[in-house]
Amino acid sequence: MKLLVTGGAGFIGSVVTRMLLDAGHQVVILDDLRTGHREALAPDATHVEASIHDAARVITADAGFDGVLHFAALIAAGESMIKPELYWRNNTVGTLALIDAVRAAGVPRMVFSSTAAVYGNPTELPITENAVKAPTNTYGATKLAVDMALTSEAIAHGLAAVSLRYFNVAGAHLAGDIALGERHDPETHLIPIALDVAAGRREKLQLFGDDYPTVDGTCVRDYIHVADLARAHLLALDAATSGQHRIYNLGNGNGFTNRQVVDVVREVTGHQLPVEVAPRREGDPAELVASSTLAREELGWVPQKPTLHDMVGDAWAFYRTHILGQQ
Ligand SMILES: NC(=O)c1ccc[n+]([C@@H]2O[C@H](COP(=O)([O-])OP(=O)(O)OC[C@H]3O[C@@H](n4cnc5c(N)ncnc54)[C@H](O)[C@@H]3O)[C@@H](O)[C@H]2O)c1
Repeated sequence: MKLLVTGGAGFIGSVVTRMLLDAGHQVVILDDLRTGHREALAPDATHVEASIHDAARVITADAGFDGVLHFAALIAAGESMIKPELYWRNNTVGTLALIDAVRAAGVPRMVFSSTAAVYGNPTELPITENAVKAPTNTYGATKLAVDMALTSEAIAHGLAAVSLRYFNVAGAHLAGDIALGERHDPETHLIPIALDVAAGRREKLQLFGDDYPTVDGTCVRDYIHVADLARAHLLALDAATSGQHRIYNLGNGNGFTNRQVVDVVREVTGHQLPVEVAPRREGDPAELVASSTLAREELGWVPQKPTLHDMVGDAWAFYRTHILGQQ
């Protein structure tokens, strides 16, 4: 297939691009590099350095795209509460422009990066796709708005749409000379921050709250390896059906506490990790664990790297070689 990948210079988009190319697809990347990395661009894909707001310039009827995989977004939940207008404009208004272009050019299918943040504080565990959607931050709200727009688009105009709601994505894609990992700036995710501490690049790791009703008092989150997540996108492309908007949660179904993550980072890196317990953060749910039963049943998706050791091990291998420059 000829595919457009938005956000292909970012963490997840670059890994999915690599797998699409390896599977024999042709890929054009649309990424304005506002948070992405030029080095993460696949050399065998075409890169257009432009915003999704200008997608219509690239997605023309003549270009003949068979599908769009849409990763481009701003992703920091905390920042989205301080600069909500930035998130609405980029994540929602930008995506509506992209959907307009997809419709005008007659592109048949679209796969969208949604998020566990659409559920907010869960009323059931594990969280299924039918759970109440009540985002507690603007980031989650901008993604839920897009999910709703895709449902309308499928019903009214026959788009084959799939939203994949990721839980916490971790690890790195390492294959031969390929090494694609997480490099957000500022970093807000626990594992790369813990690796910064292990590498001596940050003084200590803050754990926000240790009085939650969990086994050790710290929050429980569901982690998914980026390579497993990427594979789900290829399955979603195949399963996309005209006139339907399918929605799948992607997680492990296993939660890990923040302290369990810290223990694994200590084990994998061999470094002590100074930890400081800070007050709870507003809106942080005690536990977020996905039910991915639907993705397993309907897409045939089976995670191959489900353990924290898999994820932290690969993230550390990427960190050492590509961030610290060690052999
Ligand atoms: N990382 C996670 O744990 C996680 C969890 C749930 C959902 N998601 C979603 O997955 C997607 C990818 O996340 P990531 O971690 O790879 O983020 P990332 O910041 O590494 O990548 C995002 C990419 O999108 C590009 N981009 C942003 N706005 C753009 C615009 N207007 N026009 C063109 N390009 C633009 C950036 O330059 C960057 O390359 C996002 O949509 C995010 O909301 C991520």
